[in-house]
Amino acid sequence: MDTLVRLLQLLVLLLTLPLHLMALLGFWEPLCKTYFPYLMAMLTVKCNRKMDGKKQELFSQIKGLAGASGKVALLELGCGTGANFQFYPSGCRITCLDPNPRFEKFLTKSMAKNRHLEYERFVVAFGEDMRQLANGSMDVVVSTLVLCSVQSPKRVLQEVRRVLRPGGMFFFWEHVAEPRGSWAFLWQQVLEPTWKHIGDGCCLTRETWKDLENAQFSELQMERQPPPIKWLPVGPHIMGKAVK
Ligand SMILES: C[S@@+](CC[C@H](N)C(=O)[O-])C[C@H]1O[C@@H](n2cnc3c(N)ncnc32)[C@H](O)[C@@H]1O
Ligand SMILES: *[C@@H]1O[C@H](CO)[C@@H](O)[C@H](O)[C@H]1NC(C)=O
Repeated sequence: MDTLVRLLQLLVLLLTLPLHLMALLGFWEPLCKTYFPYLMAMLTVKCNRKMDGKKQELFSQIKGLAGASGKVALLELGCGTGANFQFYPSGCRITCLDPNPRFEKFLTKSMAKNRHLEYERFVVAFGEDMRQLANGSMDVVVSTLVLCSVQSPKRVLQEVRRVLRPGGMFFFWEHVAEPRGSWAFLWQQVLEPTWKHIGDGCCLTRETWKDLENAQFSELQMERQPPPIKWLPVGPHIMGKAVK
């Protein structure tokens, strides 16, 4: 099985050689950081149409999580274009965080469309190190399609727990690996090294549910869902919440 994976990986690598050469020479990354926000803006429209009911159900739970200020302090982790704003109840005070500043243009657009929310600031940083955000300063943290792309899901989840207040909630929707041993998983392994470049660091074979289970939240609930866009190689999704 492993040899087959290596062989097919090599084949895909050869077929996409120009891309890998550009990546090796350092030309690909700046290009990717530039086009990726446009790609996400397009995909988000499709995803949200498919996920409308599910996202509404998930984020309706934000109501009632307001902290001492009477408002819900919400961190949008890996905010991208701001795909979730339309689902949040009024009175949320949103902090956006993303390492790619090229999203700002799209983020500003989403903010203008969602005047029922307050926007605190856009922090350009990695989720692995959110030192700009104080301990226990958030009532809610949201991450959708982010843990596939971070360097270390484990460190990001540690940081999520740190910035949440006790009783604060983490809502997530992430794509994850297909079952080990399946053909679909083999296919994900074969495509991953190339897909990572196309998808701005997106990994296909992460078993993110394990990181969530190991992150020492006091409560964890999730469900598995089929992917919203069939033709992409991303696998099943998990959606749920964790309580600090
Ligand atoms: C697939 S996009 C999803 C964007 C948005 N959350 C959504 O649901 O449409 C992945 C996002 O994660 C961001 N990202 C990548 N690495 C990250 C990291 N280490 N910490 C936080 N965000 C990261 C990317 O810049 C990008 O905005
Ligand atoms: C913030 O939390 C971290 C980890 O939980 C802890 O090590 C650190 O001492 C805390 N800092 C403050 C200022 O309370």
